[in-house]
Amino acid sequence: MSADLNQKYGLNPAHSEVVSACEFVNPGNALDMGCSNGRNALYLGQRGFAVTAVDINQAALGQLQSIVSQEGIATITPRVYDISSASLDADYDFISCTVTLMFVESSRVDAVLADMQQHTQVGGYNLIVCAMDSADYPCPMNFPFTFEPGQLSAAYKGWELVKYNEDVGTMHNGARLQFATMLARKPA
Ligand SMILES: C[S@@+](CC[C@H](N)C(=O)[O-])C[C@H]1O[C@@H](n2cnc3c(N)ncnc32)[C@H](O)[C@@H]1O
Repeated sequence: MSADLNQKYGLNPAHSEVVSACEFVNPGNALDMGCSNGRNALYLGQRGFAVTAVDINQAALGQLQSIVSQEGIATITPRVYDISSASLDADYDFISCTVTLMFVESSRVDAVLADMQQHTQVGGYNLIVCAMDSADYPCPMNFPFTFEPGQLSAAYKGWELVKYNEDVGTMHNGARLQFATMLARKPA
């Protein structure tokens, strides 16, 4: 696979937290949840991961499939999947879910997190980046779901939190809000 596929196909660079996670996570089987047109999946593929890339948006998946086909990439599998179904059917060394959970119906998020945890190999990792809603920084966007302070770390009780913060960030429209950012390792 040639380098810089994101650039070649006009995609944004991979999410910075996916890039950072690769300092800790060795290549293995990865699941990119809410992959859109594949900026993170392509990055992970180029890092040596075998990637299942899922999204509910068929048009976005079609773009990724087209890149995968043009490049003859055998290690990235784009697939339609509704995250809210919480019905993963394989286990992974790395599950990445960046800026996606906030689009999932809030009543399904506990089930989605439990399913991700259950389908992570022992010693494997989950990466989550998701918008928050807090007293100090009420979420200015009308997302179906946002984390409360401490909610994500509580959901990963017993896991090793390799990285965890609830820092304030700025969206492309200038809105300021907190994001829960977590890289967690599943214990033995
Ligand atoms: C803001 S994009 C993030 C894309 C990518 N994770 C990234 O870091 O660039 C959110 C993605 O989540 C997808 N999505 C939203 N709800 C979903 C669901 N229920 N199941 C699967 N994908 C979903 C959207 O189609 C969109 O591609």
